[in-house]
Amino acid sequence: MIFVTGGAGYIGSHTCVELLQAGLDVAVFDNFCNSQPESLLRVQRITGRTLRVIEGDIRDRAALEAALKNSGATAVVHFAGLKAVGESVEQPLAYYDNNVLGTLRLLEAMGSCGVKSLVFSSSATVYGDPQRLPLTEDHPLSATNPYGRTKLVIEDMLRDLHRSDPAWRMSILRYFNPVGAHASGLIGEDPQGTPNNLLPFVAQVAVGQRDAVNVWGDDYQTPDGTGVRDYIHVVDLALGHLKALERLQAHAECQAINLGTGVGYSVLEMIQAFSQACGKPVPYRIAGRRAGDIASCYADPTQAANLLGWRATRNLQTMCSDAWRWQSNNPTGYCGTDSH
Ligand code: UD1
Repeated sequence: MIFVTGGAGYIGSHTCVELLQAGLDVAVFDNFCNSQPESLLRVQRITGRTLRVIEGDIRDRAALEAALKNSGATAVVHFAGLKAVGESVEQPLAYYDNNVLGTLRLLEAMGSCGVKSLVFSSSATVYGDPQRLPLTEDHPLSATNPYGRTKLVIEDMLRDLHRSDPAWRMSILRYFNPVGAHASGLIGEDPQGTPNNLLPFVAQVAVGQRDAVNVWGDDYQTPDGTGVRDYIHVVDLALGHLKALERLQAHAECQAINLGTGVGYSVLEMIQAFSQACGKPVPYRIAGRRAGDIASCYADPTQAANLLGWRATRNLQTMCSDAWRWQSNNPTGYCGTDSH
């Protein structure tokens, strides 16, 4: 039984689909603070399988212990956490509380239940402002905002725990920029309020909910002056978690692994690719730089290929057309929809 915290969220729900389709049993532990139970109904509809759903908060150790025991968990995939950079600057304690304290409680509960296998959702944000590209896992780590710092603190906590007790098996997955949606169009990214991330914003412009994309700066040291990122299809990302779980069965290690494609695209290239996918130009305007942004960020995905036998296979066109299918079929996300 795989125990998935934050399983109702964007990456979590896509990972649940792949776990279920691989024949694994899944229990989701989620407080639905930034997700909808509807996503899990859709996961079951896609896979034709059921999963256990436990509504609970990762800061509640007793609830975690009960859920781990009752579900018969053998490994944990830990997605639950807050992830908005701007919000983390305004409310740092909420980030330390949910992300750091929540993960601490989860590790305590796992330890006391004898469940010592963990796949953790980290982020390329732990590389800070890149000193060299592509980013390899041994690049120096740093943080530029409280959100990033919580990811870094958690990574350090996991490494310390593994050092103290090598029976712990941990895979620290450093995500680049997840985009796209399941090919069924039934699950996808459903941000609350104004999207911070590029692709959901572009998709909302394309569907007519917003007038134009703000391109945050066109004076970076990049081929067209706009920011370059390593966008990765969320289903490829989900499959990376499956491979990480497989590896942990044979290796008692604490290993950080990049999950990216190794290819960077600019903001303007993304808008253009999305325009093609939705069959109409997506309007945009050039605006000033966003505080804290970097020019370019992309992965060296070699370690994932070597250790996990994983590589991303879905291209930019698929990322955009799958995101568009989700957005056009569900213009208001999961809100107000009926799963039947
Ligand atoms: C952001 C976070 C990162 C976090 C990740 C989670 C910042 C500085 N970084 O990454 O820590 O792990 O989200 O998903 O917030 N852009 C626009 N217009 C928009 C939105 C974005 O031009 O409306 C540009 C950005 O300047 C950037 C690119 O699009 O060049 C991607 O932005 P975004 O999707 O927010 O991701 P990151 O900034 O890479």
